Amino acid sequence: MPKHILVVGSINLDLVAQATRIPQAGETVHGETFQTFFGGKGANQAVAAARLGGRVAMIDKVGSDEFGARLKQGLRKAGVRVASVEKAPGHSGVALITTDKHAHNSIVVVPGANGALLPEDLDHHRAMIESSAILLAQLEIPLATVEHLAVLAGRYQVPLMLDPAPARAVGRKTMRAVTWLTPNETESTTLLRETEMGDDIESTANRLLSMGCRNVILKLGSRGVYLSGHDSQARFIKGFQVKAHDTTAAGDAFNGAFAVVLTQGKSPAECARFACAAAALSVTRVGAQPSLPTREETEEFLRRAGRR
Ligand code: ATP
Ligand code: RIB
Repeated sequence: MPKHILVVGSINLDLVAQATRIPQAGETVHGETFQTFFGGKGANQAVAAARLGGRVAMIDKVGSDEFGARLKQGLRKAGVRVASVEKAPGHSGVALITTDKHAHNSIVVVPGANGALLPEDLDHHRAMIESSAILLAQLEIPLATVEHLAVLAGRYQVPLMLDPAPARAVGRKTMRAVTWLTPNETESTTLLRETEMGDDIESTANRLLSMGCRNVILKLGSRGVYLSGHDSQARFIKGFQVKAHDTTAAGDAFNGAFAVVLTQGKSPAECARFACAAAALSVTRVGAQPSLPTREETEEFLRRAGRR
């Protein structure tokens, strides 16, 4: 039995309004559609990996509200092991999302039960953490919990993939435990405590590496990613050209996909290309988890792209 991919991260219900444009501060705009989707960066990455054939488990908390049981059931149905998803008093994590016709979005995340996942909770799951093939984390749970996960990852020598999203500064001690750091441009700027990301992507990647992580994968939207670090030659992996409808969870599709093929022994560059394909497919569809592709869809997409 292969080791599992373990996601320690958020589970949200996404409340999504589609409007012709995203309102500015103080402004009201007319919405066109309203839908709810299963989301949360942790849950999205877990479902992305499971749909692509990974053996996946999750640690987090859902609320005692009406959403909690539905969110957990949604993960179970997607093939994610949820024995370590507990119930916390209060509301589940929610994300209020507005999307526009250009596939842009703005998101307010209210952590709810995700905020109740504390460092000591991880200690109850040490055996599970120790026996994982890779750990995936993001920053929608308390930073102290992510920091503790980094300590455990180091202690048990399990690779840690950190998506530093939503953007927050992360200390060097944690960065030194990260095997794969996957920021987008905003998150890179925040990590480097700069005001904006310069045009020199190679230099940004080098400065992130100098904070101590082993590899960095800079996510560059439709342009793809830049991969650099100890386990791969520095290089761009081009994004795939698709018609984007909704980019929510593109980054999560990337991380989940990268983890699955990495644990199956592919090279980092091959993993990044496969992950760009899964992420490109996800932006052609609306919603977070409904947009995440299967293995067959992703392989077929890559075959077609290879023929062009
Ligand atoms: P998210 O929107 O989930 O927050 P992110 O900001 O973390 O995503 P992005 O760089 O926007 O990360 O997207 C992750 C990956 O998804 C990209 O590296 C790329 O491979 C793919 N991707 C994103 N947008 C597009 C697009 N418009 N067309 C094709 N691929 C895309
Ligand atoms: O990365 C996309 C996710 O961010 C959404 O599903 C939403 O829940 C927010 O957490």
